[in-house]
Amino acid sequence: MTPLLEVEDLRVTFETGDGPVHAVNGVSFALAEGETLAIVGESGSGKSQTAFAAMGLLARNGRATGAVRYRGRDLLGLSPRELNRVRASEISMIFQDPMTSLNPYLRVSEQMAEVLMLHKGMGRRAAVAEAARMLDLVRIPDAKARVHDYPHQFSGGMRQRIMVAMALLCGPKLLIADEPTTALDVTVQAQIMALLGEIRRELGTAIILITHDLGVVAGFCDRTLVLYGGQIMEEGPTDLIFARPTHPYTLGLLSAVPRIDREEETLLTIAGEPPDMSRLPPGCPFFPRCAFARPENETLRPPLVRLTDGRRRACNRPVEEILLAREAAQ
Ligand SMILES: Nc1ncnc2c1ncn2[C@@H]1O[C@H](COP(=O)(O)OP(=O)(O)OP(=O)(O)O)[C@@H](O)[C@H]1O
Ligand SMILES: [Mg+2]
Repeated sequence: MTPLLEVEDLRVTFETGDGPVHAVNGVSFALAEGETLAIVGESGSGKSQTAFAAMGLLARNGRATGAVRYRGRDLLGLSPRELNRVRASEISMIFQDPMTSLNPYLRVSEQMAEVLMLHKGMGRRAAVAEAARMLDLVRIPDAKARVHDYPHQFSGGMRQRIMVAMALLCGPKLLIADEPTTALDVTVQAQIMALLGEIRRELGTAIILITHDLGVVAGFCDRTLVLYGGQIMEEGPTDLIFARPTHPYTLGLLSAVPRIDREEETLLTIAGEPPDMSRLPPGCPFFPRCAFARPENETLRPPLVRLTDGRRRACNRPVEEILLAREAAQ
């Protein structure tokens, strides 16, 4: 069966005054209908640019190569007009800060109705009614009346719900959520994640969740993809990645998740800084920070290899060695 989304050898380069910045360096993955995938990694690891490239939303100085196939059709080759249609009706995206995507001068009803009138050919009255129905779906109380309010009349959590409603207006098959809860407090975060979970169950929408909060990923995403230096370090079923991480970087990321049963985590946390993407070394990007690194990895990049349990990882240290280190630290 054709996957819903298939990303193949995606590379993103930005031209800057200081030379090219290699933000994404050969990322490949596939997503089935209705599946949830988390993309995790530290700041600057290429999470957002992977999604932006797929959506044709790169900054002007950016260029993407490879392939991003949606139901078999390569999006990288589409004209802006064709891409607009796909974005409105098939794939939609929500961002960290709802205020950057909501127009403060327009009532929510106007913003939502506009989308429906443009892409679904609805009349204004029907479009406003549909907008209210969507607000109700994302649990905005008194949606029929409140759809006529301005964005600033809603709390931050409510605004994020409105963003989710906007993203769902045209019934997309894929929702890409880029740090959708980072700006919200913990209780509201949990509510938004619960909402996304319901949408997934009830509408069957596939979701790519981009986050550096690993706590959010467990229990929500079927699979997890760990990015570092714009490359996949490890990818596979979320429960496997969490229970038995086999890449030193995943190990470090998981150790950095605060745990209530322990005062401090020091043994396996990651020291040092993420790489400079304009000067990526030829070897493993994690080499300078890796406690398990072998000298040859300074110049030798381990290929992404599929293991028998279904995951993929890019490391040439034996799996057992990594697992033992984790056990010893626990
Ligand atoms: N327009 C641009 N010009 C030059 N470099 C850019 C541009 N946009 C992004 N980058 C660089 O691309 C790299 C990857 O950025 P990206 O936004 O994908 O990171 P991220 O993983 O989403 O991080 P965060 O968690 O902070 O959102 C970074 O090094 C960033 O500085
Ligand atoms: Mg980002």
